[in-house]
Amino acid sequence: MKIISSIEELRDQLRGQLRTAFVPTMGNLHEGHLSLMRLARRHGDPVVASIFVNRLQFGPNEDFDKYPRTFQDDVKKLEKEGVYVLFAPTEKDMYPEPQEYRVRPPDGLGNTLEGEFRPGFFEGVCTVVTKLFSCVQPRVAVFGKKDYQQLMIVRNMARQFALPTEIIGAETFRAEDGLALSSRNGYLSDTERAEAPALFQSLNQVAGEMRAGHRDPLALEHGAMEGLAARGWKPDYISIRKRIDLQAPTSADLERGEPLVVLAAAKLGSTRLIDNLEI
Ligand code: PAF
Repeated sequence: MKIISSIEELRDQLRGQLRTAFVPTMGNLHEGHLSLMRLARRHGDPVVASIFVNRLQFGPNEDFDKYPRTFQDDVKKLEKEGVYVLFAPTEKDMYPEPQEYRVRPPDGLGNTLEGEFRPGFFEGVCTVVTKLFSCVQPRVAVFGKKDYQQLMIVRNMARQFALPTEIIGAETFRAEDGLALSSRNGYLSDTERAEAPALFQSLNQVAGEMRAGHRDPLALEHGAMEGLAARGWKPDYISIRKRIDLQAPTSADLERGEPLVVLAAAKLGSTRLIDNLEI
């Protein structure tokens, strides 16, 4: 595997490649990321991964500084997966001058759910993803469904800008007890780790009730948030939304059987976890 940090060198290395499958990451790779590499391999060749902890998508009080950086371990894992190039730019490579041109998603999609609690997050994501795509020029790129809203925003962005990159969504990789794998799980103490699957359990409960014909999403959301709060969590949201645009369903939508997804974000101790489940 070639490890490349300069954009120019990356372009030289990938020149003429028409079927590149790309997996952007922020490193601290776990089985979830590796499953994205395997999916990428099924959709293209060569597989290119990136590791870049993107300052632009972190708020001033978020975990940019303490975000886990485990580069040597990550390299070994990617080598085992047969990744052809790891693009690992430094901040200077990626942002040699202040990144004044930004890509901002539309308010309706960018300012709800995660966007409401992490202002500027999706602008940071869209900006870096656009720039990474410009560097790698992939035919396909793989994003996990765990970051459901991110996947939708990137997919819409690629479509609206007519980018020549197909966006592929990968199923969420879960531990045996249901907890979605995430680099931030590493922040959890043993007691918190034992409690963490409760987030997925409450999503399952909400989804189960909706599938059984419950027609009051707000009451379900409220009940689920209270349930988590009673166990010591600080929920930001548990929200039932339409899969198509992540807006709240109207009663007509519910009547019509509009496909839904329930999304959640909650803090356990000082760790903020997110998860979702299609209904
Ligand atoms: O999901 C992530 O790890 C990041 O948001 C991404 C897509 C690599 C952009 O920095």
